[in-house]
Amino acid sequence: MDVDELPVNRKAATINRAIEETVNRAVRTRDRVLRKLGLGGRAADYDDLHYEFIGGANDEMRRKHYDKSLRLLWKAEAAAPWSSFRDLGAAERAIHDMAEQSLSATEKQARARVTSADFRAELDRHYTPRQKQAIVNVLSAIGHGEAYAWLVSAANLRDVQSSGAKAAVTMQVLEEAKHFVVLREVVQAFGVPVPRQSAWEYLLLEGVLRADGLEKFYGMNVLVETIALSIFGALAHLPGLEILRLFHLDEARHTALPQNYFKDFPMTRRQQLGRGARRRRLRMALPTLPLILLLEEDLAVLGIDAFEFAGSVLRKVVLLSERAGFMLPAPGPVMLGRFNALFNLYCRLTRPGHQARDFMAADTSKDEVVAQVEQEIFAAAPNGHRHAKRASTPRREVAGSR
Ligand SMILES: [Fe+2]
Ligand SMILES: [Fe+2]
Repeated sequence: MDVDELPVNRKAATINRAIEETVNRAVRTRDRVLRKLGLGGRAADYDDLHYEFIGGANDEMRRKHYDKSLRLLWKAEAAAPWSSFRDLGAAERAIHDMAEQSLSATEKQARARVTSADFRAELDRHYTPRQKQAIVNVLSAIGHGEAYAWLVSAANLRDVQSSGAKAAVTMQVLEEAKHFVVLREVVQAFGVPVPRQSAWEYLLLEGVLRADGLEKFYGMNVLVETIALSIFGALAHLPGLEILRLFHLDEARHTALPQNYFKDFPMTRRQQLGRGARRRRLRMALPTLPLILLLEEDLAVLGIDAFEFAGSVLRKVVLLSERAGFMLPAPGPVMLGRFNALFNLYCRLTRPGHQARDFMAADTSKDEVVAQVEQEIFAAAPNGHRHAKRASTPRREVAGSR
């Protein structure tokens, strides 16, 4: 390479290097001592000597979550052309246009760009005002959850070790941001009042955001994400809500994040099994019970039995918790048995002629695409929990496989 080198004062350069070396030694020694004394130290968990975050490269985690999220990345403009999003790149738009050109006249008409007014009119054709309000009440509950998912995943970025895990969590932050802003527009398109967070959602989500370190993985990726994907799964077959399949697929990937992370950075036995931690996990989940009672009416309007819905959520939560190593106060089947007894008791008191049944065996996801994704994630783990490698790496492009 031909460059006209500029003259430099060599002596000044040598002095500057020496000053830097002295300050470098002082700064790093100070931070090492402060860390040893438990008084802080370096704020970033970054290892600049190895050009990696502390914890190493962890390329497997990067491949399973960062690379895959980018492969499966969806754009709101293509999935909801009626929305205000204009997020397609030039190349994506060209592919989109090419695909449009190859369609027949009738197909083109069917796929014509739907405006916001068209979409609203379509919703009005399909739903009564009460049904629209029920959908908004149920969807906005998880819409508020998306706001917290965005904040919690951003907080987790500081708690996970390794470059691969940070890349994986970064994709979750991006996807939760997209979920929040896109779902907000979907909900608003229904044109009915959007309710505030209920007290139970408030308590649940604040509890998750306040949880210690990677217990946030339990609160968000296991508990809240399972509720979210179950809601998306129960509604994705409804007209105008097909976009929820995309949300569902992202949430499915997020629920696999803890178990994939703990394969490389396992929790200690105390973290998994400590009595306090197990009790806190149950306490964190408790607001979901009154939340279900509150949503019973709206779910019923949509033909969904609230206790079947809750039973399927709890079954999935218990499976994912134990698989990741977040043990609960009692083994899974015992926990589920207790919840089932409680649900049946409530139904005996409030539903005339109620016959005792196993709500924990129910499934409220009706959409085929959704059902296939769920079958792969929630297939029973061979040994119940923790390092159940085969069960935690589903075959398709869903959660953990490459
Ligand atoms: Fe989300
Ligand atoms: Fe998520």
